[in-house]
Amino acid sequence: MNAPIGVFDSGIGGLSVLRALQKALPHERFVYLADSAHAPYGEKTEAFVTQRTLTIALHLRAQHHIKALVVACNTATAAAIHALRALHPQLPLVGVEPALKPALALSRTGHIGVIATRGTVGSDKFARLLASLQAEAHFVVQACNGLALAIEQSTLPDQARAAQDQISHLLQTYTQAMGRFGTGPGDIDTLVLGCTHYVFVEDELRQLLGPDVQLLSTGEAVARQTQRLLAAADLLNTQAPHETAQPMRLLTTGDLQGLQAAAQRWLGLPPELCEAAPATLQA
Ligand code: DGL
Repeated sequence: MNAPIGVFDSGIGGLSVLRALQKALPHERFVYLADSAHAPYGEKTEAFVTQRTLTIALHLRAQHHIKALVVACNTATAAAIHALRALHPQLPLVGVEPALKPALALSRTGHIGVIATRGTVGSDKFARLLASLQAEAHFVVQACNGLALAIEQSTLPDQARAAQDQISHLLQTYTQAMGRFGTGPGDIDTLVLGCTHYVFVEDELRQLLGPDVQLLSTGEAVARQTQRLLAAADLLNTQAPHETAQPMRLLTTGDLQGLQAAAQRWLGLPPELCEAAPATLQA
């Protein structure tokens, strides 16, 4: 089926998931919506994030006729995936959650770090996930206020330099607060990136933590799950990519230049694919 897959995040972070989706599903069309005017979700109330998520899902269905929706945001998934499923029972839906279970399989020291937004780590969904695994490893959880916003700002030409300094400062402060990273006994040897924005500061994290600490994100797993759901519902696109009209559209409620810069820097996509979301979504 030739309809697009909707992908949505509070901002540009979900582009890390879109990158994995595009790689795994090269025949598919995508519509990406960055709600950058309302980022960061992680520091807003659950009710606000739920309301934005439901509004955006409705918009993507009504205006873009999406055949599936990937909520490429841990914070929105934690707040709103149940409400979304209840309202759209027929729509294949994929959410993201911090990769705690995969981290268990990878960690040798049994000490696992998790960084995510305040909204994600404060959610009931995350509390249940953590409680179900706590007997199996020692988890050190750190909410990273300000980090997603600084990553958003790092794509805006006039704010990029200050944002980059802020990213370095925040990463240093938060990782130091978590304890010792490394591969010795008691060291944190695996760090879960529980926010899709954080994938874009992986290089900085590697420099800070050294090459032996494993960084875990969810893009590939989300792409595999999306593929499975579409195949099961017989919704995969069977046309060749060159027959597919407009394979990618990227919309933002925020700064268009910021989305263009991010799409170009991280996915190599040309700026013409980006456009402003309609005014009704920006309020
Ligand atoms: N990218 C989002 C996540 O995965 C949220 C960042 C934010 O807006 O706070 O949680």
